[in-house]
Amino acid sequence: MKIMMISSEVLPFAKAGGLGDMVAALSAELARQGHDIRIVLPRYYSVDPGRLRRLERPLGVPMGIEEEWCGIASTTLPGTDVPIYFLDNQALFGRDGIYGSKTEPEFSDNLRRFTLLSRGALQLAKMLEWKPDVVHAHDWPAALAPVYLNTLEGEGFFADTGSVLTIHNLAHQGIFPKEELEHTLLGWEQFHGAGFEYHDRVNLLQAGIRNADVLTTVSPTYAKEIQTAEYGHRLEGLLRHRSRDLYGVLNGMDDRLWNPEKDIHLPVNFSAGHLAGKAACKAALQEVMGLEVGDEVPLYGMVSRLVEQKGFGELCGPTHGSLYNICDDLDVQFVILGTGEEWCELELEKLAERLQNLAVDLEFNEPLAHLIMAGSDFLLVPSAFEPCGLTQMYAMRYGTLPVVRRTGGLADTVENYDERTGEGTGFVFDLLTPSSIYNTVGWALWTWFNRPEHIADMQQRAMAKRFSWEASATRYAELYAGAIDRRVGTIPRTW
Ligand code: ADP
Ligand code: GLC
Repeated sequence: MKIMMISSEVLPFAKAGGLGDMVAALSAELARQGHDIRIVLPRYYSVDPGRLRRLERPLGVPMGIEEEWCGIASTTLPGTDVPIYFLDNQALFGRDGIYGSKTEPEFSDNLRRFTLLSRGALQLAKMLEWKPDVVHAHDWPAALAPVYLNTLEGEGFFADTGSVLTIHNLAHQGIFPKEELEHTLLGWEQFHGAGFEYHDRVNLLQAGIRNADVLTTVSPTYAKEIQTAEYGHRLEGLLRHRSRDLYGVLNGMDDRLWNPEKDIHLPVNFSAGHLAGKAACKAALQEVMGLEVGDEVPLYGMVSRLVEQKGFGELCGPTHGSLYNICDDLDVQFVILGTGEEWCELELEKLAERLQNLAVDLEFNEPLAHLIMAGSDFLLVPSAFEPCGLTQMYAMRYGTLPVVRRTGGLADTVENYDERTGEGTGFVFDLLTPSSIYNTVGWALWTWFNRPEHIADMQQRAMAKRFSWEASATRYAELYAGAIDRRVGTIPRTW
């Protein structure tokens, strides 16, 4: 099949979170399975044009009152021959940051920026005379693509092209003042007609959900959760309405990048049979983070965006967070790598000043993320919601036991420890409260000190888990076929 991926993030060119990992790894595996994949991404300022090949012809994209012009540059996804096309437009993309910056958390012209991505990707397919069987759009920045396929691009070139929209995070919907709809050239009748209207504003994700032939999200549990008021971010009614077209497909993990036997970022590699290297990684991690070096104290790691979604309100909220108590009361070391909301960065800095056994690093640092996965004993992921979550999978592969809240992909990937039998691959709790985080962290520590044989067995079990992309990519290929069937009318859509 010919599949066009449209995404605002693709590893290694642009990444704010797991979306970048997912699009790169899924594309690589689909290509390995014989599909013809092409990816379209904006050329942000951070992408070095020196590494790209420029196409001769510029691309005109109908937008607003005049056409926007883009240069097109291309290269291949590393380790594959999958072409990636970058839309080059300095006015809209030539700045630091994917969605926003420190001073402007969300760029005020984001609707125009990502209209250019969605419509530009479709224009590019026409310019290349490469007709995709399916357009696979990711999250709100690409959600206009399925809308165009049902409206301005509904006939002609794309008449038989199916669309799949993957929801990686329902909390981000792309909501803008309604006047901005004019940039899309869709016409006012589509404000209601295509399902944009949301409390008198424009909601791009909502319109994408209305228009895509098939909807997916990144774990089976999250697919169910988002149909409830608790997790639906006010789109649960619409998602329930489309539930027959909505599927949860668990993300895999990219074994080429996350494998303790080959990881280039580790001082010493290791495997389930030879764990000595893991102890060396722990010592190296303690050293770089300025913690006391030694194996007699258990080490907790976190690698995360510092936002409410990830449980940081309960962990380090100024009046009630449990992190201070954990580090003050318990025999433990704690390492946190992350960037995010300013309040959270400030709180963590304050706590790290007071607590000898807490080290924080507030930057985006890929090598350090690998060292934390390898050198920690436990990885804490106390998310309020987690569409899939990749770090708990990485942790398990490196023999680091995840301590997680039972939600979304965390519930689908981590098996809770059973004290009687010693079974499980991690520690799981239900309530999102400071005290359940505290108690579960404590329970895992107690087990580490008092049941080392259970911990060792769990490590072996966790390391043997394979969250492979092979099965998930095969599932996506089936869903692509389903999208085409809905497009050409052999299967009725629910809208
Ligand atoms: P989300 O996409 O919601 O942020 P995921 O668990 O799916 O959560 O993916 C997060 C990805 O981003 C992981 O690959 C993780 O290692 C990486 N990551 C997050 N913060 C940092 C950071 N500060 N430095 C390096 N990598 C990070
Ligand atoms: C989102 C989600 C995360 C998921 C990632 C990749 O950023 O928050 O849970 O793993 O997308 O699908």
